[in-house]
Amino acid sequence: MRKPKLSKVVIAIAITKLLTSCGGTIPEESSSEAISSNKAFSVEEILEMVAAENDITRTLYTKGIVGAGKKQGLKFDEDWQDDEVEAGPLPALFLRGISSDIRKSSVPLGLYLGSDFPINASNKLEGKQAELFKKIKANQKPQFFYDESQKLHTAMFADMAMAAPCVNCHNDHKNTTKKDWKLGDVMGATTWQYPSDSLSYKEAIGVLNAYRNGTKAVYNAYLAEIANFKNSKKPNIGKLWPSKGFNLPTAEVFIDSVRKLTSYKSLEVLVKKGAPVASN
Ligand code: HEC
Repeated sequence: MRKPKLSKVVIAIAITKLLTSCGGTIPEESSSEAISSNKAFSVEEILEMVAAENDITRTLYTKGIVGAGKKQGLKFDEDWQDDEVEAGPLPALFLRGISSDIRKSSVPLGLYLGSDFPINASNKLEGKQAELFKKIKANQKPQFFYDESQKLHTAMFADMAMAAPCVNCHNDHKNTTKKDWKLGDVMGATTWQYPSDSLSYKEAIGVLNAYRNGTKAVYNAYLAEIANFKNSKKPNIGKLWPSKGFNLPTAEVFIDSVRKLTSYKSLEVLVKKGAPVASN
């Protein structure tokens, strides 16, 4: 199928919408009634879009914050929220933080991280998800199904060992159930759930916002934890990343990098059907 040619105006409108909505509010009015009432997107494509955002957020956090930060002496721990532990969230807990923030929002989006060889037994994939995970391990392709018991559309995406810290930490962890993870392995899957089979433009933006707000919330919780450090040295918080010294980016700088890396892809999905594509 030939890709529709999008006018610059349409893209500019979509960018403006995205940017204005990133602050957490969903635009009140769509430029046409049809846009807000049309169920323009299938649940599969929107879950695929938000899963792609998650991949980038997760890689950036794992490599740019955890990997580089550890070299500067920053600590990351599963008990990072305990008062006596002065550390940041592990990547899996960063993701869980996003997921619980989404749960508190009005967007009915579910997000989980599971595996066949988990560190934490409660992350073990079971039933239909365990079955489909075998396919994901074999071909790394996403799997979609309707979960009858929960009445939720469900999508699963490979969670890859894309950085050395993933493999090293899991292989060495005291509770690990597998000690020979290698770079490039499918270590688990993110499972995403949504109640309806199609979404309007507004709902699609809502899903993206809920994810981005979750990222911001958990990153800010990390910075708040640092502000309360009593015995550990506090990194400089500003524009710079730990790759450049004892620094951490502010939430704005972190989110901005995620946004720069993801926006084009997400935009393509949203613009494809959501925006009023001109007839040229
Ligand atoms: C510094 C240690 C550390 C790093 C780095 C790390 N993990 Fe984990 N990971 C954990 C711990 C601990 C858990 C269990 C957290 C929990 O749910 O209690 C976990 C959970 C998971 C899970 C859910 C299943 C399970 O094992 O419980 C997956 C999948 C996973 N990590 C994949 C990855 C990937 C992929 C990366 C790199 C992007 C990564 N991890 C980086 C320590 C780490």
